[in-house]
Amino acid sequence: MALNLVLFGSLFFLIQNAQGFSIPNTDATFQETPRSFNINVDPSFITDVHSRVQHARAPVQIDGLTPPDKDGPTLADWTTIHDYWVNEYNWTEAQSNINRQLHQFTTIVHPQNSSYNSSIPLHFVHHRSPRTDAIPLLFIHGWPGSFLEVSKIIDRLTNPPNASLPAFHVVAPSIPGFAFSPAPQHAGFGSGPAAHAFHALMLQLNYTKYVIDGGDYGGVILRYQAHLFPSNVVSISSNFWVIQPSSEDLRRLEEGLATPDETTYIRNLETFINEQSGYRIIQEHNPLALAYALTDSPLGFAMWIYNLMAPVVDPRDFAWTPQDVITWAMMYIIQGPYGGLRFYKENLEGGAFEGFAFGTLPYVSQPVMISELPYDLWFGLPLDWAQRGGNVKVRNVHDRGGHFAAYERPQALAEDLWSWYGDGELSGTKVFGVK
Ligand SMILES: *[C@@H]1O[C@H](CO)[C@@H](O)[C@H](O)[C@H]1NC(C)=O
Ligand SMILES: *[C@@H]1O[C@H](CO)[C@@H](O)[C@H](O)[C@H]1NC(C)=O
Ligand SMILES: *[C@@H]1O[C@H](CO)[C@@H](O)[C@H](O)[C@H]1NC(C)=O
Ligand SMILES: *[C@@H]1O[C@H](CO)[C@@H](O)[C@H](O)[C@H]1NC(C)=O
Ligand SMILES: *[C@@H]1O[C@H](CO)[C@@H](O)[C@H](O)[C@H]1NC(C)=O
Repeated sequence: MALNLVLFGSLFFLIQNAQGFSIPNTDATFQETPRSFNINVDPSFITDVHSRVQHARAPVQIDGLTPPDKDGPTLADWTTIHDYWVNEYNWTEAQSNINRQLHQFTTIVHPQNSSYNSSIPLHFVHHRSPRTDAIPLLFIHGWPGSFLEVSKIIDRLTNPPNASLPAFHVVAPSIPGFAFSPAPQHAGFGSGPAAHAFHALMLQLNYTKYVIDGGDYGGVILRYQAHLFPSNVVSISSNFWVIQPSSEDLRRLEEGLATPDETTYIRNLETFINEQSGYRIIQEHNPLALAYALTDSPLGFAMWIYNLMAPVVDPRDFAWTPQDVITWAMMYIIQGPYGGLRFYKENLEGGAFEGFAFGTLPYVSQPVMISELPYDLWFGLPLDWAQRGGNVKVRNVHDRGGHFAAYERPQALAEDLWSWYGDGELSGTKVFGVK
């Protein structure tokens, strides 16, 4: 009897995987309709990761760096994360916490009219609100994050504290190549195709009209998606609305004519470009060269992303724990980081990036609200510059927080969303019955 079940189980597994989609080191399967998914990583892979971390070798340090973390995370950071990973980190516990907190699914979507015309397997979080008047909201994560970015804000959105605030049905997919959405099997999958795929996901879930929230890549993809699907995407909220300054803007700064906001914005972008963008150039150009090293070294990968995560959060409210850094890194390590790394190359080739600069992104005609947090690299963007990229109606300038708004400042971001989408006239959510 037991043997029969096992045989039947394997046959079932083969049928499920008819299209060959899988996630290395997991038992993930992908079918034509949404299926409940729990993370279940092969324990022998976790043992292998642990052993690689245990045997990791730190670079020989040099003295006299000012500040000491200019070249990358310090040896003290490396040691803290290394020691925690070797002695305390418990993946089984991290995995069950995620499974308990977030209802996850897998499916396959077939985008129409996309330049990337293959079937696309997706992993996503989906929480429906108990409220009958809830608004469908697509939440899109970024680099070097994952769907975990939604974890601290999702309950506030599905179950707001009172009935006068809007509630949301939240869908938070993983970009292909990140976490448990398989990396694209061939080239050509940048932000435009991601927008097509996420739109196909919303339609598959029967959300024909919806709003989108995002930061980092989410803030890039949503501009494509809003532009491509004007009758479906009703309204936008973004905590990453970058506008590349024009040569005229730079000239005005040089001549001392820039406003304080314009000056702050240009200086912030310049700091990011001059001091923090090495990662971006290599991911845009030679991601495979990097992926050989980072696939081989879990701790090396964690330090690669920690280098970006550390400077863009507000230390007054938030500090990365070794637990967070490792679990965020695991969202790339499990399937291997190449697909996530090379999404930069696709965005360069698709025109979203132009080397160090941001490219010209599609214009968004739907109403837009932007949330600017002071430790983010684009803080200070003036409203009139923001409007070059779309119909930006509201600019919320925060006095605390950084790049990972939904993770660092979930209450503050939720308040921005409640106030924006709660104004049916201004945000356009009157189509959902919001007054
Ligand atoms: C890791 O966490 C799991 C689930 O909470 C628990 O059963 C297990 O004993 C823990 N392992 C260690 C080594 O603490
Ligand atoms: C794809 O394009 C066709 C023809 O323009 C259009 O009728 C159809 O609605 C489009 N599909 C989607 C999902 O946008
Ligand atoms: C998908 O795109 C490829 C390359 O552009 C093309 O050769 C192929 O015919 C397309 N397939 C469909 C079903 O549109
Ligand atoms: C609903 O909650 C918001 C945010 O906590 C608060 O500002 C508002 O006064 C509350 N409204 C009612 C009717 O309780
Ligand atoms: C969407 O609607 C179709 C047709 O009513 C139904 O078959 C399908 O189960 C629905 N999908 C979801 C995810 O509710």
